Amino acid sequence: MLLLAPALLAVFFPAGDTQDAFQGPISFYVIQISSFVNNTWVKYQGSGWLGDLQIHGWDGDSGTAIFLKPWSKGNFSNEEVSEVVELFRVYVFAFIREMTAHVNTLQLEYPFEVQGIGGCELHSGGVMVSFLRGALGGLDFVSFKNSSCVPAPEGGSRAQKVCTLLSRYQDIFYIVEKLLYETCPRYLLGVLEAGKADLQRQVKPEAWLSSNPGHGSGRLQLVCHVSGFHPKPVWVMWMRGEQEQPETQRGDVLPNADETWYLQVTLDVAAEEAAGLSCRVKHSSLGGQDIVLHWGRSISSGWIILAIIVSCLIFSLCFALWFFRRLSYEDIL
Ligand SMILES: *[C@@H]1O[C@H](CO)[C@@H](O)[C@H](O)[C@H]1NC(C)=O
Ligand SMILES: *[C@@H]1O[C@H](CO)[C@@H](O)[C@H](O)[C@H]1NC(C)=O
Ligand SMILES: *[C@@H]1O[C@H](CO)[C@@H](O)[C@H](O)[C@H]1NC(C)=O
Repeated sequence: MLLLAPALLAVFFPAGDTQDAFQGPISFYVIQISSFVNNTWVKYQGSGWLGDLQIHGWDGDSGTAIFLKPWSKGNFSNEEVSEVVELFRVYVFAFIREMTAHVNTLQLEYPFEVQGIGGCELHSGGVMVSFLRGALGGLDFVSFKNSSCVPAPEGGSRAQKVCTLLSRYQDIFYIVEKLLYETCPRYLLGVLEAGKADLQRQVKPEAWLSSNPGHGSGRLQLVCHVSGFHPKPVWVMWMRGEQEQPETQRGDVLPNADETWYLQVTLDVAAEEAAGLSCRVKHSSLGGQDIVLHWGRSISSGWIILAIIVSCLIFSLCFALWFFRRLSYEDIL
């Protein structure tokens, strides 16, 4: 997971025009996870990501890429896509064979897991940064810097051995360099343009409130749910009037199944202090019209109270009618 953190930080922000549309870094990267279960069984997973969005899968059985979006090929021709996929297929095969062959030299013990991430990141001003890192069992292992293999301190002598082994294959370095510094930046610019409508789409959030018992007696945890928005950056805060409540706890922004996002923001308060609090939501899709939900003043609870009052009134009326009719019968008898 450590490996993925920098990539996950690469969120993108919407704005007006093409070139400046993605302020803040946006990256394209490929992730591989290989589980070496025993000397005959390896599970391989590959995927391609644009920021937080998966746009490629990998079918390990047939050794082919799966294009998850109509624009996943960017502006590459089918020939160039086939070349890259073929390169990847050969690489996966060679990687598994070499790892299996060097289990003893590297003193690895089954089962073990190898993770890799490689790609390029576009920063504001058009600066492009490429990266390639490998991990063993979730710990940094080796990385590729300035055309050479750099062992990570966590990797110990084993990582140094891998770098020594790899240094014999200068051809591989040449191919990797071309992929990282030439192919990836060209692809990233092309795919951002091809997928623009999808990537920059604005979807308004829905928001609602709920509560849980708080920490300690007489306390409430107020929960503000914000769901269904795109893109990911969002600002949500519990407020008293115009005053931001600094004890507001923000959860992680989680994915919904429909490629929109969900966020939960909570505030722990004494029950009697809940009145007068509100949840404020700012999002690029709202065009400056923040959503503001007031605690205890929501329409739904108003309707519930009204429904109870009306039911009570009707019941009392019926009872009164029945009572007076009974009285009048008794008068007659
Ligand atoms: C390797 O692991 C697989 C899956 O757990 C198992 O079916 C297979 O028998 C194992 N092979 C050996 C040689 O241990
Ligand atoms: C990159 O490597 C070259 C030679 O391999 C060296 O001359 C150069 O100083 C290195 N640059 C950095 C930033 O380490
Ligand atoms: C794709 O778009 C990029 C960036 O606009 C450009 O540099 C490249 O030449 C285009 N075509 C291909 C086949 O990469």
